[in-house]
Amino acid sequence: MSATEQISFRVEPTNSSRLSQVDFNNLKFGQIMSDHMLVAEYNNGKWEDVSIVPYGDLTISPSMSALHYGQAIFEGIKAYKFEDGTVSIFRPDKNWERFNKSASRLQMPEVPEEIFLGGLKQLLDIDREWVPSKEGTSLYIRPFMFATESALGVHPSISYKFVVITCPVGAYYSKPISLKVETHYTRAAEGGVGFSKNAGNYALSLYPTQLANDEGYDQIMWTDALEHKYIEEAGTANLIFRIGDTIITPHGDTILHGVTRRTIMQLAEEWGYRAEQRRVSVQELIDGIKAGQVSEAFAAGTAATITHIDRIGFEGTDYTLPPVEGREFSNKVLDYLNQLRYGKVEDPFGWNF
Ligand code: COI
Repeated sequence: MSATEQISFRVEPTNSSRLSQVDFNNLKFGQIMSDHMLVAEYNNGKWEDVSIVPYGDLTISPSMSALHYGQAIFEGIKAYKFEDGTVSIFRPDKNWERFNKSASRLQMPEVPEEIFLGGLKQLLDIDREWVPSKEGTSLYIRPFMFATESALGVHPSISYKFVVITCPVGAYYSKPISLKVETHYTRAAEGGVGFSKNAGNYALSLYPTQLANDEGYDQIMWTDALEHKYIEEAGTANLIFRIGDTIITPHGDTILHGVTRRTIMQLAEEWGYRAEQRRVSVQELIDGIKAGQVSEAFAAGTAATITHIDRIGFEGTDYTLPPVEGREFSNKVLDYLNQLRYGKVEDPFGWNF
């Protein structure tokens, strides 16, 4: 990016904090936003007007191109509070990299490090009291960017808004989930935008997910667009299995390259497990479950953290996974990540920012 020099932040603190109204013992996911947000404008090829302002509505034009042609991307990041009050953001550099990959695929400008990571630092500094400290809670950070040009021609917008909002959260999934293997609808195809975190990937999931919900499943297990044979992801999170003695996660550009997924696979390798990122067929999984070889299955994501899967529905048959208590690897990872994120153990990987 050019023109990243001389970025200065304007900070306008709120004069009416909503902090005292928050019940930190009863946090739902994504319901209450913190006092401040970061907003930056992209015009004439450069980022400008970077400001931290009280959280509030944005004014948009009805002809704003993001509303019509969908140039809209986002990220999900979490910050945690240590016992000594230190606030730490978990691997935001990886989210920044992925954000810019999404941006370039959707022909949007990259956001420079100074605005993305520097902005997170300043935003969390001003809203540090909003970071909850109880285990299982965190401050969810939602950076997003959308096209703001007022024009109905189909072309890349000439102007964009980058915004970061945050909210104190508890669990996204409060219990193990069931998944329906989707063999009709498709999330992403080769050459498409499956790897990018764009709003459209979530919009297209809503109808098939509702159908799965109506059949009694919590989420979808997406499969490949060509044959509906290979497992992809769950839409709100990546998928990881333990089949035999191997930790396996689906691989490829039709799935989101999750930071939590990457973290878990790295830990698996560090801890001496056999870890593989490769194509996994639905049949391999089902055969493995039938043979008692699948000891663990879970969804992994920033919002989901590690969410155990207890049941998988495929072609009208339900397959039940082993009890959560006996899942050695995923429970160990969850425990370790909790300790690391809340600053209770050393951070040998430099993941706490
Ligand atoms: C995240 O894990 O941060 C996500 O963006 C998933 C979202 C559907 C809540």
